[in-house]
Amino acid sequence: MKKKWLIGNWKMHGNLAANKALIASIRAELPELDEGAEMVVCPAFPYLYQLAELTRGTGIGVGVQNVSDHLQGAYTGETSPLMVKELGGSFAIIGHSERRQYQGENDGLMGRKALAAIDAGLIPVICVGETAEERDTGRTHDVLARQLDAAFGYIRTAHDKIVLAYEPRWAIGTGIAATPEIIQAEHEFLRHRVAIRDKDFAARLPIIYGGSVKSANAVSIFSMPDVDGGLIGSAALNATEFVSIYRELL
Ligand code: G3P
Repeated sequence: MKKKWLIGNWKMHGNLAANKALIASIRAELPELDEGAEMVVCPAFPYLYQLAELTRGTGIGVGVQNVSDHLQGAYTGETSPLMVKELGGSFAIIGHSERRQYQGENDGLMGRKALAAIDAGLIPVICVGETAEERDTGRTHDVLARQLDAAFGYIRTAHDKIVLAYEPRWAIGTGIAATPEIIQAEHEFLRHRVAIRDKDFAARLPIIYGGSVKSANAVSIFSMPDVDGGLIGSAALNATEFVSIYRELL
């Protein structure tokens, strides 16, 4: 059975006390993870080490929301994926639409970041997704293909540890998730596009969905054949919600 994934993107939320309480509540509601589904939390950078310590021995993975495209050097304010690895991180979200939107990240940079993450031994969670305007003007597939090709232009598909996330920008933080039919159609499109490069890799590649996933809509989204899990924003900050969504994966 292909493994399922639940990744919480905490964005710029949290503090030492709240993070500790959130992990404690998740653990209280879910003392053991299921073998069939990974759980990962991605706090803001300053809390990476705290989360690595809090989750030690629990099976819960820890990641970051961004990394540098360089491993070391004179890059003021940047964080090397090697540093993430050393502090106990195993995952790095790459190319999130909020970074594209507010930090001006582009496709090429996203590809280089994904490669740097892989070189440091992290699993990149590569985000792709269209805006409402791109969807309304019929450009969704052009945009997804462009973003995907840019990332995979840098990555050797022989590297098996990659997660792809479809996050339509119009569904992020709006409370209105894409319909299961739209999600399935776009995941299928993405998988076919990856299969052009490597069919076996495409079949194994986890493709997860992000954008207003809640416990109430998780079951219909996760029942789609090409959906291998979820990338969760606001609902990841609520232990009961996050654990309920996790249970819908199984
Ligand atoms: O990366 C997760 C994301 O952007 C979705 O956020 O709050 O709509 O679940 P949210």
